[in-house]
Amino acid sequence: MNIKLKRINSISGVIEVPSDKSITHRAVMLASIARGNSIVRNYLQSDDCNRTIEAFRQFGAKITIDKGTLFIEGAGLKFAKRKSSRYNIYAGNSGTTARLFPGILVGQDSEAIVTGDSSLSKRPMQRIIDPLSKMGAKFESAKGFLPLIVKGTSHLKAISYINTKSTGQVKSAVLFAGLYADGITTYSEPIKSRDHSERMLRTFGADVRVCGNIVNISPVEKLIAQDISVPGDISSAAFFIVAALIVTGSNLTIKNVGVNPTRDGLIEILKQMGADITLTNMREISHEPVCDIVVKYSKLKAVNIDASVVPRMIDEIPIFALVATQAEGITKISGAKELRIKESDRISAVVSQFRKLGAEIEALEDGFVISGFGGAHHFTGTVLDSFEDHRIAMTLTIASLIARGETVIKGSHCVNISFPGFYEVLKAICK
Ligand code: S3P
Repeated sequence: MNIKLKRINSISGVIEVPSDKSITHRAVMLASIARGNSIVRNYLQSDDCNRTIEAFRQFGAKITIDKGTLFIEGAGLKFAKRKSSRYNIYAGNSGTTARLFPGILVGQDSEAIVTGDSSLSKRPMQRIIDPLSKMGAKFESAKGFLPLIVKGTSHLKAISYINTKSTGQVKSAVLFAGLYADGITTYSEPIKSRDHSERMLRTFGADVRVCGNIVNISPVEKLIAQDISVPGDISSAAFFIVAALIVTGSNLTIKNVGVNPTRDGLIEILKQMGADITLTNMREISHEPVCDIVVKYSKLKAVNIDASVVPRMIDEIPIFALVATQAEGITKISGAKELRIKESDRISAVVSQFRKLGAEIEALEDGFVISGFGGAHHFTGTVLDSFEDHRIAMTLTIASLIARGETVIKGSHCVNISFPGFYEVLKAICK
């Protein structure tokens, strides 16, 4: 599907964004291996999360859906073994399904084959194969890529794993496997990646201890069913935060957004740039900090970002690059090489499409150098490609709001991966 967009005058209103994708995946997974009946309220009803729901139904979790709520009767830590064949898990576009689920499968006396769409099939799986193999699981893969055959064992060894990358997905796979291991599993990473798994494992009754960037997890007899509410996704809110900042005269409130300190890098950096952003009504929901965010159009100054903050805003870097095109001065983004292996090569995608709009942007191997217009110059609309990457489609959509004339975005339907209803929310606040 292609969408046609026009420049707008301003943005105003009060909105909510869909629920957090990372938290929804983890809630479905842990509720599925818990004992008893869990409720996951306000879960993210998106293509990616549906892949996880389907996967865990195969393992015997009974998952029913009533509007935005999931009712999950857990299958327990060990699924009943399927006798005749191996499990067949189709992860679609979802890296989180493909990389977290093996952390649970390795503790089963079972086998599964994980496949995905063409984008996911280009994304590396070696990063989970390495630690999980050390724990005693066996894998077959297409040279570190999908399809991935995962062979679990009932004799999983506890390991101490030092990762040189900060990645929430690998950390979560190892911690989930640690539930089944024969002792305390230790995981450490250079910069703390998102910690939703640590928080939620504790909520479900696991013994998880955190000391700086080191996490220890002990094996458990069972996890206990919970009633979880999922907050709004800051990675989805990011598109509207930026829209309000760069469209003159805007004033927007986004309610009920998760602001976990391992995910709030974008807000911190935007404030350093001079953004008028206020966090109000701060509270905690299911052990996650949540607030309402008020954003007003702001004149912004360039700032450099590097590897020390990138893990806290990894999914927001494409939309941050858009802010940088409107700020005054030169922004350098480095330490973000992981963007090359997301749903698309997000460095190439941003550079090629922003240049078509008229931006001055150079690619680095691990980031960008962007010369900002200082708010004085707007883009010119043209035909842009989303590369079927949801975050690129939404970034280009927000860019089109400040582009003269008409912008066409090819493959805009991919927003459903994380943000069904994105264009409806946008329509409601554009003046
Ligand atoms: C995610 C972790 C991040 C992020 C992805 C979701 C998660 O990936 O980019 O969208 O839910 O754990 P990495 O683990 O590769 O950093």
